[in-house]
Amino acid sequence: MTNKELLITGASQLVTLAGPLRPRVGAEMRELAIIEDGALLVRDGKLAEVGPSLEIESQASVDAERLDAAGRVVMPGFVDAHTHPVFAGSREDEYEMRTEGRSYQEIAALGGGILSTVRKTRAASEQDLFEMALPRVRCILEHGTTTIEAKSGYGLTVEDELKILRVIRRLDAETPLQLVPTFLGAHEFPDECRAPSGGMTREDYLRLIANEMLPRVAAEGLAKYADVFCESQVFAAEESRGVLERARELGLGLRLHAEQLSLSGGAQLAAELSAETADHLEWVDERGIRALAKAGTIAVLLPGAVFNLGLTRYPPARAMIEAGLAVALATDFNPGSSPTPSMQIILSIACTQMRMTPAEAITSATINPAYSLGLGSEVGSLEPGKQADVVIFNCEDYRQIPYFYGINHAAVVIKKGRTIHHRLGAGLGS
Ligand code: NIG
Ligand code: FE
Repeated sequence: MTNKELLITGASQLVTLAGPLRPRVGAEMRELAIIEDGALLVRDGKLAEVGPSLEIESQASVDAERLDAAGRVVMPGFVDAHTHPVFAGSREDEYEMRTEGRSYQEIAALGGGILSTVRKTRAASEQDLFEMALPRVRCILEHGTTTIEAKSGYGLTVEDELKILRVIRRLDAETPLQLVPTFLGAHEFPDECRAPSGGMTREDYLRLIANEMLPRVAAEGLAKYADVFCESQVFAAEESRGVLERARELGLGLRLHAEQLSLSGGAQLAAELSAETADHLEWVDERGIRALAKAGTIAVLLPGAVFNLGLTRYPPARAMIEAGLAVALATDFNPGSSPTPSMQIILSIACTQMRMTPAEAITSATINPAYSLGLGSEVGSLEPGKQADVVIFNCEDYRQIPYFYGINHAAVVIKKGRTIHHRLGAGLGS
């Protein structure tokens, strides 16, 4: 951070997302509050002025640093509300197996899936995991994402879960990326519950989460939220409820992997507990949508996981928006179902496969996920007083971000007023 002012002028579209101080629903999701030929004045890492270039230029001090967006789109940094970025190894072998016809669940039943990443993550030291995560963090930032939610869940012992959460805390402190930590000890039942000689029952593991993991996580302030993978073959709705109720008792917010691969009751449960978010929702029914809308729970949709698993059933985003549900989009960045750190490709998939408009997709990638993380007054829009988390894209129209897909449009990335990536280039549209 610097006391010096930074003046950004000449945005073809300054996509501010200024609006009501709450998640956007229904028709509001299409209102981006765009200023043509817009400018921003940044002071002390925060947005001081936002408006038309002519007006804002005259308010900058003479020694302000100047950056000409020269006809490009300027937007708030993406907020990615669902990621699993701390893990060891990768799973391209399973990717290949899926091309040969094996399903995600079959591979998990064969001992692959989440548990194969757990084995490698347990074997890695805290320092190793930190170093493995650094290039991922770099890549996330370079693709225009300045805040992420980050889950544990590849440890599944007290010490290994805490190890991952400490890595997340260190990444937040030592890199420009802002990370909001979520405890996901209930991501899977560990090997110890499976092998005949493993010595642990499902009930034992649930007790370990409730009596040891959650109290340690809460006491050490290592997570803001708790999450559970509620799914048939994984955590049943009633098992999930126990974990979430205990988490709430200890002061954590609630998120939930719900209805990803089957209708398992996760949406009803999230609504009943007034969880902050219900995530995935590929199989949610109308009743679940209504319950979530009524509870004010935000739907975090992860179409990258559907795409990458080679599936065809996407979450019913249109029905959700029509029902007044606040929708967010996220990458689900993880080594199994969705190995992409790019919010831009998620926007492309959301537009083509879920028929979200580009404007709805942008709202779902900025202000709505910010609210889902309790950060609605700090990030997610370009309004005076907020953090200066700003991205300049090599595009002249925001719709080109999903339209020219599979490429990185982010040209300049600024976090809290500090430029952390700078690669201005020509767009493909002119
Ligand atoms: O959100 N569904 C559970 N968790 C991840 C997948 C994690 C993995 O396969 O390693 C998900 O898709
Ligand atoms: Fe996930």
